Amino acid sequence: MNDLIPYLNPERIHFLETVDSTNTYCKQEFIKNGDIVVSNQQTAGRGRGAKSWISPGIGNIFFSGKLVIESLVSQFSLISLFVGGSVLKTLQQFSNTPNLLTIKWPNDIYLEDKKISGILIEGSTIGETTTLIIGIGVNLFWEFIPEELSAAALFPFKITLENRDRIILQLIKEINNGLKNFYTNRIEDEVSWIWKNSYLQKKLVKTIIDSKLVEGNVIGLDSNGFLLVESKGSIVTLIDTGENFQILEME
Ligand code: BTN
Repeated sequence: MNDLIPYLNPERIHFLETVDSTNTYCKQEFIKNGDIVVSNQQTAGRGRGAKSWISPGIGNIFFSGKLVIESLVSQFSLISLFVGGSVLKTLQQFSNTPNLLTIKWPNDIYLEDKKISGILIEGSTIGETTTLIIGIGVNLFWEFIPEELSAAALFPFKITLENRDRIILQLIKEINNGLKNFYTNRIEDEVSWIWKNSYLQKKLVKTIIDSKLVEGNVIGLDSNGFLLVESKGSIVTLIDTGENFQILEME
């Protein structure tokens, strides 16, 4: 690996039985650049927008990776989108129904109309150094997960801890590929792959921008990882600010 490109180290995985949140655990000083934390369950899993993430054990993925980057990270949205793309690629490779899996901007993974994976990236900056904690939750096994977050069988194999770990190793590879593409400026191909696999294609959405209601069709993603919406003949750029839009209907 080129030392200038940040990456997660598959030889540095801390396996835990239980933890409050792998993201929180990852913030501790003894967790180093490139380290990964995987837990069999979480007692206080966190989601985006201060929501909680239901985290029963038995083969689900609760994963966090730490990157300490010696520069300011300006295109945070793009990194976040690329991580979503990496999760999607990984799940598609293992799934027996890859075509049913999509990414919903900014980085949720859907199986048909159900969210099966969410990503929480937390960043902090000290001087010129940026620390990113990349947290990924995948509901591989959903007996204890509420209906709206669950899905029919995804994989052609039983979810055991061993199989979960095979998926995790592939996930690390895909995240590292995504980071390499990001840092070597191979943005266009990645963004266009993500758009081709987007849940929001042809969706009508509604949002408020500068206190004005904007309603329109999602038409693509730009090179910053922002969502493009056509509304009343003009193109509006949506920046990820959490749960900032509603899907109105499907075409
Ligand atoms: C979302 O709201 O969609 C993001 C969910 C992120 C959940 C994962 S599970 C592993 C890591 N640890 C946490 O506490 N949250 C993330």
